[in-house]
Amino acid sequence: MPIIDDHQLAVWREILQLCKVQTGENLIVLTGETSHPKNIDLAMRASAAMGAHLCRIDVPPVVGGGAFGQRSDVAATPISGHRMVIDTLKRADMVLDLVGLLHSPEQLEILAAGTRMLMIIEPPDVLARLTTNADDKHRVLAAARQLRAAKVMHVSSDAGTDLTMPVGQFPIASQWGYADEPGHWDHWPSAFVSTWPTENLSHGRLVIDEGDMMFPFKSYVQSKIVLDITDGFITSIQGGFDAKYLRKHLESFNDPNAFGISHVGWGLHPKASWGALGLRDKVQSHGMDSRSFMGNFLFSTGPNSEAGGSNHSRCHIDIPMADCSVSLDGVPITDHGEVLPSNTGSTHA
Ligand SMILES: [Fe+2]
Repeated sequence: MPIIDDHQLAVWREILQLCKVQTGENLIVLTGETSHPKNIDLAMRASAAMGAHLCRIDVPPVVGGGAFGQRSDVAATPISGHRMVIDTLKRADMVLDLVGLLHSPEQLEILAAGTRMLMIIEPPDVLARLTTNADDKHRVLAAARQLRAAKVMHVSSDAGTDLTMPVGQFPIASQWGYADEPGHWDHWPSAFVSTWPTENLSHGRLVIDEGDMMFPFKSYVQSKIVLDITDGFITSIQGGFDAKYLRKHLESFNDPNAFGISHVGWGLHPKASWGALGLRDKVQSHGMDSRSFMGNFLFSTGPNSEAGGSNHSRCHIDIPMADCSVSLDGVPITDHGEVLPSNTGSTHA
């Protein structure tokens, strides 16, 4: 959907203001073959208008990749092993990442240097619709405090989910849509909180219901998938076509760790929509509506090495689920896909 250029530029400047971009700061726009041309143009113009010392680094695409060349391969990025680029990015005050360095060791290294990073992949009209503000940050941080204090996350659903996940071994990942603190990584658009379950302890059943979504497939599930989980790993995948597709995709990596559990959490973006994924073809969207919509339970499979865990699997599947009820230490957080009013963080607590 076309958006008036002036409006888009204003949206980008608003995001950069939230990121506390200052006159004279060193800002790098990282681009590649898959970066949206309009986003590149807006990133450069908005950053220049903020008075940043600005440059653009354009990198070639990764050759090969994971199964079917899709983004479930979390191992390689266009700057993997590219020392000159990594060191340059570490010297920046802020990086606008229009390539996607997520899940990579080089991203962790850049953040450790104190650089602020904001990943931006979605097309311009999605960015213009899913703007963010300080309320989103307060809401996410309030949820992060609840999650940090918890010992057990439990999720249930009328479809049959009954999954218990001890937590506390790994840090909390908070995304509120802008990078305003040194060393903070974020993703525009985004608002959710997550963590990685304590290793080898999750147990129970996860029923991925019709209408839930899977990435990188970027599709709605059409038939229930029943996952049995024991000692932190998926031990059984039962159901119809969708179950078969998921099982064969995980098996294609020839890696038992692909059946591990990665990050889990819930969505907190009031503007994000469950239905948005159905309105686009697959190359048009990164799926942040699906991952962020308010009250979704975001389950995922594969590695926890990003959080410091021992699972280094290259296979990672995000599975946003609607209509689940999440509780922490027995205290309800969401009820049938709705964030309870006491947990929406509408006040700046
Ligand atoms: Fe993920």
